[in-house]
Amino acid sequence: MVELRSGIGPHLFVVLGATGDLMHRKLLPALFQVSADDSLRQKVVLLGVARADLDDGRFRESVHASLTAAGVGADDPRRGWADEAVHYQRLDPAHGVGFDALLARIQEVERDHQLPGDRVFYLALPVDTIADILAGLGAAGVAHGPGWCRIVIEKPFGRDLESAEELNRQLHASFQENQVFRIDHYLGKETVQNLLVFRFANMLFESIWNRDRVANVELTVAEDLGLEDRAEYYDRSGALRDMLQNHMTQLLTLVAMEAPATATGDSIRNEKVKVLQSIGPVSPDDAVFGQYVAGGSGATAVKGYLDEKGVAPGSNTETYAAAKLSINNWRWQGVPFLLRTGKRMPSKSTRIVVNFRRPPVMFFQSEDATDLAANRLMIMVQPDEGFELAFELKPPGHALTMQTHRMHFLYSEAFGPLTDAYQTLLTDIMRGDQTLFVRGDEVEAAWRVYAPLIASPPPIQPYPSGTDGPARAAELAQRNGVIWSTD
Ligand code: BG6
Repeated sequence: MVELRSGIGPHLFVVLGATGDLMHRKLLPALFQVSADDSLRQKVVLLGVARADLDDGRFRESVHASLTAAGVGADDPRRGWADEAVHYQRLDPAHGVGFDALLARIQEVERDHQLPGDRVFYLALPVDTIADILAGLGAAGVAHGPGWCRIVIEKPFGRDLESAEELNRQLHASFQENQVFRIDHYLGKETVQNLLVFRFANMLFESIWNRDRVANVELTVAEDLGLEDRAEYYDRSGALRDMLQNHMTQLLTLVAMEAPATATGDSIRNEKVKVLQSIGPVSPDDAVFGQYVAGGSGATAVKGYLDEKGVAPGSNTETYAAAKLSINNWRWQGVPFLLRTGKRMPSKSTRIVVNFRRPPVMFFQSEDATDLAANRLMIMVQPDEGFELAFELKPPGHALTMQTHRMHFLYSEAFGPLTDAYQTLLTDIMRGDQTLFVRGDEVEAAWRVYAPLIASPPPIQPYPSGTDGPARAAELAQRNGVIWSTD
C-alpha cells in the first residue's frame, strides 16, 4: 500500500462517544487539522459513534459547528472533508442497535471509501462505561478486521490500582499491548516532549541533574478555571484522579528518568516505569487536599465548589491536591519532589522548577530581599512556553555584591505558535508510534504511588477561589525546604 504524507495510510477512525464534549472541543478540531488537507482527505475517514439517534447529515452539521467554534473559516476549502469523509452510526444495545450493526456499518463505510480495513477505535467515554464497550467490541469481533487495529483510551485509566489492573485485563483479552494507546494529552505538548531533548542533548544540565546539585523539584499545574459544566465527571474524580495521577506524574517521570538506551517508545517507557517503581507510596501526612470556596467580590465574585451546578451536596471531592514524593534511587535519594495542582487558582500556569543547592560558603552580600543565591531553572510548560534560568551576578559599582538575574528562552520568539497536543497524538496513533502513550505497567505503577491517598484521603481544607490553595500546602512545602514559586 502507498504510504501517504507523514507515514499515515488510509484507514477508518472510529470515535465512540462522538457526541461528547471531548470530541467536539478537542478531537474534531485536531482530526480536521490532521486529516482534511489534500493528501489525506478521503483517506482518513471518520465514523462517529454514540447513543443518539442521528444520521450522517445531522452529525455533519454538528461537526461543522465544532469546526466553526474552533475558528475554522466558513469558506475554508478543507471543510469538504466533513461532507465527504465523515459518517455516523448509532450504538445503543439496549434499544437493539448493537455491536453487530456497528461492524456492518464499518464494513460498508470501508467498502464505499475503498479502505484496506485498518482501524482506530477511540473511546472518548466515561471510565465506567469502558468495560462494557470493550466486551461488546471483543464479542462482535469488531476489533479484528482485515488490517491493523488500534484502540485509544482516555485518562483517567481506572479509578485506582485495582480498577486499572482490571481494565488492563479486559483490554488484553481482545488486544495486544502494541495495539493499545492510553492517552495523556500532556505527553503531546511540545514543551513536555522537549524535556527529553533538553535533558539528554545538553551535557550542561544533565551533569548537574542529581541529588548532589539539586535541592528540590517543584511541579505546579495551576488552573484559574473551575468546573466548566463538567461536574458530572469531576465530582466523581477530583484533582488526584483528574491531574495528579496522570498529567503531573507523567511530567515527574520525564524530569526524573535515566537516559533511555535508544529513542524508541519502549526504551523511554521502560525508564519512566523505573522511576515510578522507585517512588515510595505517598503518605497521607505528605499530602494536602483542598476544595475552593467562594472568593473575589463584586464583578469578580466566584461561587464555591459546593454551589456549582451538578456537585453533590456536601461533596468531599478535592479540587486541589499537593503531595511530596520521594524517589528512592541513586540519582534522587533525599531530593523532595513537591507536586501541586488546583482549580480556581490565581492564573493558569504549568511549570517545573528545579531548585539547585546553594554554594557551600557565601562571601557576597545579596542586593535582593530574598537572599536565595541558589540557581533555579524554571521550565514553563504553558502558557509562555520556554524556560528561565536564574543566576547571580555582580551589579556594576564599587561593592562586591550580588543580584539575581533571569535568562529567558521563549518558544513563541523562536518558533511561533506551537502545535496542539491532540494533533500530535492523533498523528502518532495513525502512524502507530506509542512513544507518547502510557504503557499498561506504567499506568498501574502510577496508581500504586497514590494508593494510600485513595485509601485514606487527607482531610479537605477550604481555600478561597482565586488564591494559591490551602495554607497547609504552603506548610507542607516549607517542611521540605520549598517556597512555592509564583509566576
Ligand atoms: C484535563 C482535565 O485532562 O486537563 C481538566 O480533565 C483540565 O480538568 C485539563 O482542565 C487541563 O489541560 P490543559 O492542557 O489545559 O492544561
